[in-house]
Amino acid sequence: MGHEDRHPLSPRLDHCPEGLPRAAYLDQAWYDREMATIFARQWVMVGRADGFEAGKMRRVTVGAAPVIVVRDAEGRLAAWHNSCPHRGAELCRAEEEAVGKLIRCPYHAFAFAAADGHLVSTAHAIPTDDFDRSAHGLRPVSLRVWNGFLFLNLSADPGEIWSDVGLHTLDNWPMDNLIPGHRWETEIACNWKAFWENYSECLHCPGVHPELCDLVPIYAKGIMGPTEALGWTPESAPPASSLRDGAMTWTMDGKPCGPVFAGLTPQELAVGFGFATLWPSAYVVAHLDYVRAVRIVPVAPERTRLVAEWYFTAETLAQPGFDAAHVASFAKMVIEQDGAASEGNQRGMRSPAFKAARLMPEEYEIYRFQHWVRTEMEALP
Ligand code: FES
Ligand SMILES: [Fe+2]
Repeated sequence: MGHEDRHPLSPRLDHCPEGLPRAAYLDQAWYDREMATIFARQWVMVGRADGFEAGKMRRVTVGAAPVIVVRDAEGRLAAWHNSCPHRGAELCRAEEEAVGKLIRCPYHAFAFAAADGHLVSTAHAIPTDDFDRSAHGLRPVSLRVWNGFLFLNLSADPGEIWSDVGLHTLDNWPMDNLIPGHRWETEIACNWKAFWENYSECLHCPGVHPELCDLVPIYAKGIMGPTEALGWTPESAPPASSLRDGAMTWTMDGKPCGPVFAGLTPQELAVGFGFATLWPSAYVVAHLDYVRAVRIVPVAPERTRLVAEWYFTAETLAQPGFDAAHVASFAKMVIEQDGAASEGNQRGMRSPAFKAARLMPEEYEIYRFQHWVRTEMEALP
């Protein structure tokens, strides 16, 4: 088959474009620019909203920015830059601290209202009349809860949380009633985009994920879905299921770990899973029996932290002998395989012989991602 067998509605590219330059994966200046543009203006997932306890403040990072998330005794959430308006000291020094009505800076004891951030006290300092208290409250960070996940946005004028595909993927899943049953964190030696790019194609699947290819047969062909196959037309019959016969979910034996979620459509049940891709910070995979989310947290140009969580209903968790770590082990293995592949990608890109990737037609999602990265980085002067 030649490239002329590509249907115009197929996502396959009709050419082989050049990828981002080597500097995009190695240079501190490029990385800093991404933090100042992409991560400073997009909604960034920082965890489950329920994970932030009442009466506590917790440190998180949004791109390069240290932030505190506060949940007051009444359960209201707020987020502030973790930097005192006086001389910039860190307000929350521990990972998590108890907090009452006031947030008190540990340096000179200025106090701010936890609820609205206004400056309540300058402690021993006695400002002169030119000091406008109202202009020196805590610096706010916007927040939004989406499907039970907390997102922060550093922009003074944040846009809507998403306008992209994936926004409604989880609509039929009981997202607000899910409970984290397992969490796994790791740090990998690659640029954050290298991991995203790995997520965005399946050409690596046959070589990197033998177990996954056994579970999801189409991945063994190096594609993510039937529309990518050469010769595909809209009239082609959709497959009954993406999973191999007898398998229903991503577990070691393909068996569901608890009751299948009520409320899924026949189409969702047939496909077997849904992905919500939330650039730049996370993706969520909704299976028929559990949901998992992976956060992609840039640490440095060549360091990325991955935070994976697995969510279940209370009913599933309450089953006698239920072992969430065992359920999680399949996807954890796949993420480790992807992490190792991304690290190998990163090491190779350090070679002076590497100038830029040449993308294949199947790498249309990488092309879209890189276009988005470039557009976001250029949007600010
Ligand atoms: S830096 Fe916070 S009170 Fe001085
Ligand atoms: Fe992969």
